[in-house]
Amino acid sequence: MGLGREMEKLIDRLPSFSPPSSSRRKFASSYRPIVMESYLKPLPFEMDALDPHMSKQTLEIHWGKHHRSYVDNLNKQIVGTELESMQLDELLKFGYNNANPTAYFNNAGQVWNHDFFGNSIKPEGGKQPSGEVLYLIKRDFGSFEAFVDEFKQAAAAQFGSGWAWLFAKKTDPLVEKNFAKLAIEKTHNAVNPLILGHIPLLTIDVWEHAYYLDFQNRRADYISTFIDELISWETVIARLARAKKFLNFYDVVVPLDQYEYL
Ligand SMILES: [Fe+2]
Repeated sequence: MGLGREMEKLIDRLPSFSPPSSSRRKFASSYRPIVMESYLKPLPFEMDALDPHMSKQTLEIHWGKHHRSYVDNLNKQIVGTELESMQLDELLKFGYNNANPTAYFNNAGQVWNHDFFGNSIKPEGGKQPSGEVLYLIKRDFGSFEAFVDEFKQAAAAQFGSGWAWLFAKKTDPLVEKNFAKLAIEKTHNAVNPLILGHIPLLTIDVWEHAYYLDFQNRRADYISTFIDELISWETVIARLARAKKFLNFYDVVVPLDQYEYL
């Protein structure tokens, strides 16, 4: 059964993504040039739509100044170089350079992360997810409340600037029962789970520019508001649907007539 037109449209709107295994197909001719990819994408809601949980002023500065400057600086760094021919997600994996980041890495990472963050929130969001996302959260964290506690802890514990993520990670099938599961991690500056070989599903920006106008130094209140009022679980559901094309979250079922090959 298909995902449905609304879900396919939501998936199309997500920032570009390719699975970890293809991370070195960097100069494929079918890729859109990064200068086309890396424009300032509009937020999927009006600037005042998240008020009072995230103010219009915060979004105007966060999206209109910070996000815009990452886009502008990245394009300045790569224009006229071979890097222009790479997709944004490929460029930031390439630029991470085995933890010896290149000069353009921070801008590439911040453009991707902010696009991802903008789609992680929505007006009248938050509450609890349903369906398979809730099932996997309960399976991999014990309960929804345990997930919330761990996510809050990661976001609060990130020292200085960075992000906290819910993501899908491959597991070692010799050690764990399933081949993929959900996990939470914090990252510093522009680093994200994608460059570490995982598939991001949700993020919160914990750079001070994301919350200082609305919450000043009360990062914990910002994190609670993000969880209770802002998370777009519809986007997480769409991202999980896409992740399932690359990862198996369940036991591998061997057809009966294949047992002789084991
Ligand atoms: Fe930010």
